[in-house]
Amino acid sequence: MVGIGSGGLDQITVEAVQALRESDFALAAVKRPSAGGEDPLFTRRVELLGRHAPGLELVGVQDPERDRSSSSTSTHGDYRGVVLDWHEARALAWEQVLAERPGDVAIPVWGDPAFYDSTLRILDRITERGRLTFEVQVLPGISALQVLAARHRLVLHEIGGTVTVTTGRRLREVVAAGADNVVVMLNSDLPLDGLDEWHIWWGGNLGDAGETLVAGRVGDVLADLRQARERLRAEHGWVMDVYLLRRGEDVSG
Ligand SMILES: C[S@@+](CC[C@H](N)C(=O)[O-])C[C@H]1O[C@@H](n2cnc3c(N)ncnc32)[C@H](O)[C@@H]1O
Repeated sequence: MVGIGSGGLDQITVEAVQALRESDFALAAVKRPSAGGEDPLFTRRVELLGRHAPGLELVGVQDPERDRSSSSTSTHGDYRGVVLDWHEARALAWEQVLAERPGDVAIPVWGDPAFYDSTLRILDRITERGRLTFEVQVLPGISALQVLAARHRLVLHEIGGTVTVTTGRRLREVVAAGADNVVVMLNSDLPLDGLDEWHIWWGGNLGDAGETLVAGRVGDVLADLRQARERLRAEHGWVMDVYLLRRGEDVSG
């Protein structure tokens, strides 16, 4: 597994490039974008390989549909169950391709494989099933949260402080538990109502042509953020955003 950075074609380590060049082929999921057309993140991987490992074939595995109905995902337990079913379906699809294509395979993983990425779990599932035997090596990548911090010239917490990394789905819980610095990933929307006094440093489509940065008091910038998300989706066909929220008045890094 090769962390490839979170959008910028040159946000990839020398070690990762070397691994790509030594691989027999590469493998990645192809998702059906909600807007139709091509999967922009698969296309970005093709571009990245073309630049750093010309000639390396990227084999696409059609990603099984995930149940996104609110009745199936309303609690954390339901959500986890849906995701585990989806992982099983993905593991089966990947196993089939891996069984047909021997050799060293590079799996280009968006950002860093340690943050909200299921590839490692899927590979573990495949090995647990026992049909295929392989060794997995993980090469780190630059995560979107690192790009966010760099672009805003931020340290993610105060001196000796704590930062919590969570999802949009669990933000409320983390805030209620008293967190002061929260990095939020996997946002289907911006669940920020009632957090007007918090400070936000937001990044949309980081590393891409549409990269957009916004910072300020939540109450002052929330409308701009919603607009920025809509604009990115309309103009670039995809939007991914990540942000740091800091409680109260202290906006020093
Ligand atoms: C499935 S997670 C994968 C995260 C990835 N493993 C990483 O380390 O960045 C996808 C989430 O990461 C964040 N993300 C990834 N790439 C991004 C980008 N280029 N700009 C802003 N956020 C991004 C968003 O929160 C998005 O919903």
